[in-house]
Amino acid sequence: MKEKILNALLGREDYVSGQELCRKFGVSRTAIWKVMNQLKEEGYEIEAVSHKGYRIVSYPDKITEEEVASRMETEWAGKKVVFLEQVDSTNTYAKKIAEEGAVSGTLVVTENQYGGRGRRGRSWVNPPRSSIAMTLIVRPELAPSHASMMTLVMGIAVARACRQMTGVEARIKWPNDIVADGKKICGILTEMSADPDAIHYVVIGAGINVNVQEIPEELKAAAASIQILTGKKFHRAELISRCMKEFERCYETFLKTEDMTLLMDEYNEILINRDQKVCVLEPKGEYMGTALGIDKNGELIVRKDDGEIVSVYAGEVSVRGVYGYV
Ligand code: BTN
Repeated sequence: MKEKILNALLGREDYVSGQELCRKFGVSRTAIWKVMNQLKEEGYEIEAVSHKGYRIVSYPDKITEEEVASRMETEWAGKKVVFLEQVDSTNTYAKKIAEEGAVSGTLVVTENQYGGRGRRGRSWVNPPRSSIAMTLIVRPELAPSHASMMTLVMGIAVARACRQMTGVEARIKWPNDIVADGKKICGILTEMSADPDAIHYVVIGAGINVNVQEIPEELKAAAASIQILTGKKFHRAELISRCMKEFERCYETFLKTEDMTLLMDEYNEILINRDQKVCVLEPKGEYMGTALGIDKNGELIVRKDDGEIVSVYAGEVSVRGVYGYV
């Protein structure tokens, strides 16, 4: 009930009358009044004016199931929200519930991820109550070799959502970092469970530095937060909902061709490496070249300094800017 009432109030500039809420949800005025009090205790500022009704004046930057679910404007992505006050890793938890049958579109979110995991076995630190740690479960009917492209799809979604809501000029550092002002503000980790010819599930985790005020000294050169870059705080549950909306759009486009054909231009437009000098680090050595953009398989096309054109597959290599992180 609380989630439904919150949903009815959010996004409305005008007042919503108690009578309208009673009729809509088939409950008494006392029940509505109790929910309003609960919301106030949780930090919502609610104005109640007789003969007019209720209006939300401000809301807390909290991640809870209601906060996230009540803002979701999607058909399926993030429609089911699993909120955990704390968890070691939302990806690990998402894999566990996916094994137990969680539906495609289930989103795991937490306020405190204390054992976050990054790519290549690295750890990922998410400051509690100021960042976003979320993992989406999907069950695409795709060849397993196509699953890694989900990282690119989520990359577009997060970059677009951050741009729309916060105004930062978020761009993608291939394949899975979102950067703004040359610093990383988000990392994405995609994992899957599959047979040789069929995917059971894919989990796509994103960690976004939103209202983080301080970046550890050793990471300052390469990482930042949206608050550090803009000087403003943003409502994290709203940003999550926008990411899901963008993800749903991009994912459905992706499924039409089962690759990046229809998303390639959108990705390349915000690709920070495009036309940049890069150093490709492969297990058998490294070489320099110019990144030209991704192809339909999500591989990075690089023109080597000797003129040869090669496709770089994300799983095997890492790409660095010649003059620093990007
Ligand atoms: C990277 O840049 O190395 C990827 C970082 C991915 C971090 C996110 S936070 C939510 C999800 N849960 C995890 O344990 N990792 C991902």
